[in-house]
Amino acid sequence: MTPAPETEPTSAPATLATATRGRLLFGGDYNPEQWPEETWHEDVRLMKDAGVNSVTLGVFSWAKLEPQPGERDFGWLDRLMDLMHEAGIGVVLATPTSAPPPWMGRLHPDTLPRDADGRIEWWGGRQHFSHSSATYRRYAAAITEDLAARYASHPALTMWHINNEYCTFDHGDEAAAAFRRWLRERYGTLDALNTAWGTAFWSQGYDTWDGILPPRHAHYLNNPSQVLDFRRFTSDMLLECYLAERDIVRRHTPHLPVTTNFMPLWIGVDAWRWAEEEDVVSVDLYPDPRDRLGAQQGALVQDMTRSQARGPWMLMEQAAGPVNWRGVNHPKPRGLNRLWSLQAVARGADAVCYFQWRQSRQGAEKFHSGMVSHAGEEGRTFQEVKRIGAELRRLHEVSGTGITADVAILHDWHSWWAATQDGRLSTEADHPDVLRAWHRALWQAHLTTDFAHPEHDLGRYKLVVVPQAYALTDTAIGNLLAYVAQGGTLVCGFLTGVADQDDRVRPGGMDARLRELFGIRTLHEWWPLDAGETVECDGFRGTLWSEELEAEADETLAYKAGELDGLPAVLRNGRAWYLSTLPEPEALRGLLARIASEAGARPVLDGLPADVEAVRRGELLFLLHHGREPVTVTVPGTHHDLLTGETVTDRITLGRHGVAVLRP
Ligand code: GAL
Repeated sequence: MTPAPETEPTSAPATLATATRGRLLFGGDYNPEQWPEETWHEDVRLMKDAGVNSVTLGVFSWAKLEPQPGERDFGWLDRLMDLMHEAGIGVVLATPTSAPPPWMGRLHPDTLPRDADGRIEWWGGRQHFSHSSATYRRYAAAITEDLAARYASHPALTMWHINNEYCTFDHGDEAAAAFRRWLRERYGTLDALNTAWGTAFWSQGYDTWDGILPPRHAHYLNNPSQVLDFRRFTSDMLLECYLAERDIVRRHTPHLPVTTNFMPLWIGVDAWRWAEEEDVVSVDLYPDPRDRLGAQQGALVQDMTRSQARGPWMLMEQAAGPVNWRGVNHPKPRGLNRLWSLQAVARGADAVCYFQWRQSRQGAEKFHSGMVSHAGEEGRTFQEVKRIGAELRRLHEVSGTGITADVAILHDWHSWWAATQDGRLSTEADHPDVLRAWHRALWQAHLTTDFAHPEHDLGRYKLVVVPQAYALTDTAIGNLLAYVAQGGTLVCGFLTGVADQDDRVRPGGMDARLRELFGIRTLHEWWPLDAGETVECDGFRGTLWSEELEAEADETLAYKAGELDGLPAVLRNGRAWYLSTLPEPEALRGLLARIASEAGARPVLDGLPADVEAVRRGELLFLLHHGREPVTVTVPGTHHDLLTGETVTDRITLGRHGVAVLRP
């Protein structure tokens, strides 16, 4: 039996290590309120069998905990907390505030959000709360306070999980008032706001704060700077909700870490900003098992989450089998759950958890898999879960260790928001797709990547790539210039440095300092490409975008056809590169691999087969085989495989979805 989690107050700041205590956490969302109490005992037996050492309780339990306004029913949760403690399973206790009980909307319609068309988001689903509603916030604080007071000293409690996937927008009246307050704080005067929003265009000048609204249904395009600020405001308001609850639980349990789970690469919240306020950065990750690039999508989110955490992070949710929210929902083929779970560990996760423990028989997610599927204990899903639990126990030594990357990929939510506006030149050149394409090129070149914000210190990286940073602050531009001046190699993709923080296009169509850096004399026109269209260039084909520019750079690769024939497509000026198109995947990989090698950034291992991902975490080398046919990997020297206990000398063969974790 796993030892009971420690909850003795300590003076050290709470981190994920406070909860892991040198282990890897394994478990998931546990929603026992959906089941009779006999099932709870069965659950405990199976959890022990599977090596589960952590469960998240209470995520959607508000109606059960507060059946009537102000009433409390903690009896069932008391019994569960005790049961978990007796079983040696730690509890990540959630505040239930993402799904208010039906009585709240009925008695307090002001708690319900409205969309841009003025439609109310009613109860009957989940996340039907307005971040701006004072009533909602009051109820949320009260239930959080009572939960924290009641369980602060419970020995099963290891971590707090605030709300769930904060993601709501609200365009209603209370949100409008909050938006005005937020804008006043940002701009101080109406003049400053009118300038920032460019309200001279289309007669939008505001003469009073009261005239300002969230972007609501309008006859034609909304003001893009207003939309941008509304996104910033929404992220900040949701953050305020999180902070209010975090501060309550922290007051009761300063020795325990607090998290809230992000959705992967989700547009709604500025995860860099949020991560600063979390003790543990956690994420939910659901790549499509049929997606040929599902593993890369996973790697991208894992790299980003690790970078936000600046160390180990928590995989809060993944699916043991199918999800139920795609058009067609595929199960995970044999071995894939294990492979992707170990991939998360390789890329820095100290916790591998699922939504959810036991697959529901009712409700909107009854066809979403669980660790215990409808097939039960004998089902393949649970059998694979058991194997993963057993293997994670062999990997505890990895807990707390880090990953060193030579390459950083820059990403910024504000820039993404500005780049996604209506009224842009191409909806094909979608920011996340471009980001994925660049990460994929580096991932396939076996280069380990971190993510960073354009204003972060980049000094430790040999190579910094900017797939697309449409809007950059002056500070960020200064940061990039300083990075190159100090010897770094920088590669930027198209539509970088176009706008400032207000989404105002910089003179010349790209910041002058950046143009000088890349050797661009004049940027005449942007030439976006249609879906599927390519443009012939020197040795490769470009996709999505092209540019008509004049340059004086050290090295160029030219467009070879059409209107832009002979003009530069790719430029290198000193250690700064600019790609005015998105090269096809092979070409982008080749180009970035070459630049990385010139910059001194090495692949994890030389000569890796295409389907094998390699990651060094601490002193361990993880090899992850994404293909189905056996492959042999050359690993010079003698190693100990932690998963099999065997000695590996110079080469190892990995079968379908095989994994090895080698210690030198
Ligand atoms: C997550 C959510 C879970 C569950 C899961 C299904 O977004 O946090 O509660 O709905 O998706 O994939």
